[in-house]
Amino acid sequence: MDIDAVKSEIKGDIGREMVFYDTVGSTNTVALELAEGTEEGAVVISDSQEKGRGRLGRSWVSPPGLNIYMSIILRPRIEPAHVTLITILSAVACTHALRKTTGLAIAVKWPNDLMVSDRKLGGILTEIKTTRKEIVLAVIGIGINVNMEAGDFPEQIRMMATSVKNETGKSFAREPIVSEILNETDRWYKVLHAGQKKEIISEWQRLTSTLGKQVLVTAGQETYYGLAEAIDDGGMLLVRLPTGETKRINSGDLTVLK
Ligand code: BTN
Repeated sequence: MDIDAVKSEIKGDIGREMVFYDTVGSTNTVALELAEGTEEGAVVISDSQEKGRGRLGRSWVSPPGLNIYMSIILRPRIEPAHVTLITILSAVACTHALRKTTGLAIAVKWPNDLMVSDRKLGGILTEIKTTRKEIVLAVIGIGINVNMEAGDFPEQIRMMATSVKNETGKSFAREPIVSEILNETDRWYKVLHAGQKKEIISEWQRLTSTLGKQVLVTAGQETYYGLAEAIDDGGMLLVRLPTGETKRINSGDLTVLK
């Protein structure tokens, strides 16, 4: 990847400092380690990952030369309970950036899956360090399948995963996508700091394909079935159960039922 080409298109604070590797275990792990001596907005980006991590302990397929693997270091100083807001914010930023640079009709599946034609094209893994009162460090890990082809995906996920190339039939340069994601993240992070949480939530609601659908959500040991009604101010999903009760879910694995 041509990091100078990425840097030349950076417009805000996020991405001003960028560290590039040919390979790492996981960019999130490197970012968590580097965070102490690094400015807010610094970005770790790698051409491949040997131990790419997904949510819920899953692994993230990260072959070289094809996709985007990067982690953004932020110090949001918001309540720990509002961590989902960070993921929601970055899902909004990635969706805008991908729609603009690829023309694909990307939609967000709660909380963080970037979907096209009901297949997953990208994902976000947010990891935080907190005090009791606030999030002192948030690492937003973003993985986007850009030029992978169907045969490059392991068989278990081939039916559920896709890439920009798979959807458009064309190869895409990764650099403009990376800079647009960073510029959009900068834009939405400023919205968060201006105290306009509601604007982020309503933009997410506009970009999602989850709300208004019957869903199954596994959260820890529990599985809930119901109607995905809304997300609240902290980014929690509100599911209306068949009993009429509304469950507030902070994080979990969601399946949209057809
Ligand atoms: C998900 O499960 O949907 C989240 C996937 C997040 C993958 C990205 S790739 C860059 C960063 N480093 C990691 O190890 N994971 C995230």
